[in-house]
Amino acid sequence: MTTEAGDLRDLPSLTPGPAELADLELLLNGAFHPLTGFLGAVDAATVTAAGRLADGTPWPAPVTLAVPEDLTKEERLILADPEGVPLAVLHVSETWRDNTSPPGFPEGDPLRASATTSWRAAGRVEALGAPEHGPFRRLRRSPGEVRAELGGATTLAIATRTPLHRRHLGQLRQLAEKLDARLLLLPLIGEGHDDALVRALLAVRRELPVGSLVVPVPLIERPGRDLALATHVATAYGATHFFVEAAAGVDEASRAGAPLLPVTTGDLRIEPVTPEPWAFDESVEVWRPVSKIEADHIRPEPTEAELAAILDRGEEIPEWFTPPAVAEELRRANPPRHGRGLTVFFTGLSGSGKSTIARGLADALVERGGRTVTLLDGDVVRRLLSAGLTFSRDDRDLNIRRIGYVAAEITRHGGVAICAPIAPYAATRAEVRRMVNAAGDFILVHVATPLEECERRDRKGLYAKARAGLIPEFTGISDPYEAPGDAELTVDTSELTPEAAVDRVLDLLVTGGWVRSE
Ligand code: ADX
Repeated sequence: MTTEAGDLRDLPSLTPGPAELADLELLLNGAFHPLTGFLGAVDAATVTAAGRLADGTPWPAPVTLAVPEDLTKEERLILADPEGVPLAVLHVSETWRDNTSPPGFPEGDPLRASATTSWRAAGRVEALGAPEHGPFRRLRRSPGEVRAELGGATTLAIATRTPLHRRHLGQLRQLAEKLDARLLLLPLIGEGHDDALVRALLAVRRELPVGSLVVPVPLIERPGRDLALATHVATAYGATHFFVEAAAGVDEASRAGAPLLPVTTGDLRIEPVTPEPWAFDESVEVWRPVSKIEADHIRPEPTEAELAAILDRGEEIPEWFTPPAVAEELRRANPPRHGRGLTVFFTGLSGSGKSTIARGLADALVERGGRTVTLLDGDVVRRLLSAGLTFSRDDRDLNIRRIGYVAAEITRHGGVAICAPIAPYAATRAEVRRMVNAAGDFILVHVATPLEECERRDRKGLYAKARAGLIPEFTGISDPYEAPGDAELTVDTSELTPEAAVDRVLDLLVTGGWVRSE
């Protein structure tokens, strides 16, 4: 059954989360072949346990769609983009409760818990031919189009979440020549600096054989299953071989796991290939196979962590390691810390001193100059941005998400956002950290002044009212406060003056390189 435009009006609409929208695109364009829709309970369970659909077809990772409980009785749902434009109709075959974690929530992420045990809807998705947009849309061709262009040629694919450096380029050239293959570069784009990744791959195309293709794929990272899923997707795009070694950033967990096996889906088949190790030969200043280099001529390449540190300090990435165009993209995506967007997020009880320290920090940064500073104080936010919200858990969470949204935007534009709400829930703080980290850096400061001290000061008289039962759900009295276990800094104003507390925060920012020392 297909859906006519006239029917659409009567169907309830759902806007999936960013990870689910990415999955939807791959379901609709055939990159997730042979899947044609979101998985039901049995398929999801067998995929998770055994890497197979219930009918035995190999499939490496569950692809599921969360739905709110009030939509679990519908037969058809419109799936819309965040602006509300309909993208697809979901023909619901089943709704079920999932208690495993959806993608995008790494182990240890407090958000995992809140994203689990919720309703899922399964079923075939039908494209509505909605207008498509997003950066590099013209490159995001469907697997069918790419297969047609490749015309059955032997094709070596590499899927990567980080730019390719000179070693990869050498290895790719060598393998492509050996296999007599065309190259297909698949930048896996999820969240964050993905436009830079695509540009960095476009920039190195001229160092690769003529006819090499770059096709961005919106594949959200699934730790432990990333590489296996990327292999399946590469098959759908027509690749016959898959470059397995260090497509850096395609998660370590899957690389360390079982070796990848050839994948066969219908008449498509892909063979994983491991390139020969390459290194930089100092004696002749070229990259080449390690087997051709004398051991003491091998120059070790910088690790991911070393590269990040070079960028943090604003130093040059050496040209022997990566082409200048790639270095430039990395630099633009990760400017030196003193020019990178930053959110300093204070959390603590009412009366703990958050606002005072936050204001002191904002003033100090303004006095030093060179940074734009926005203060998002709890009480001030509640007067405008969050006016009308209560202190229920849902409203507090919404309040913190709004603050996080604004802070992430400020951070994206290179500014400093200083936030000072109570933010009593760890999961919501973690959500803000994730949002901000996609755009820049995030520092959590716990203002850990003990409740007794906050209550003794009771500057606004609120604790007395809360004790008298006049203010319900008062944090610390009749409502929870989850002390952070992930704070970068803890200060306690029963032991420190506000000035000293500000100095502690400033010290951290200077030592970390976010603020230049005076
Ligand atoms: S949060 O929980 O959503 O982060 P937020 O920082 O915005 O709280 O607001 C806290 C401020 O609101 C407190 O400093 C206090 O002045 C006031 N307030 C009023 N009612 C409550 C309440 N029930 N619990 C905590 N703070 C309250």
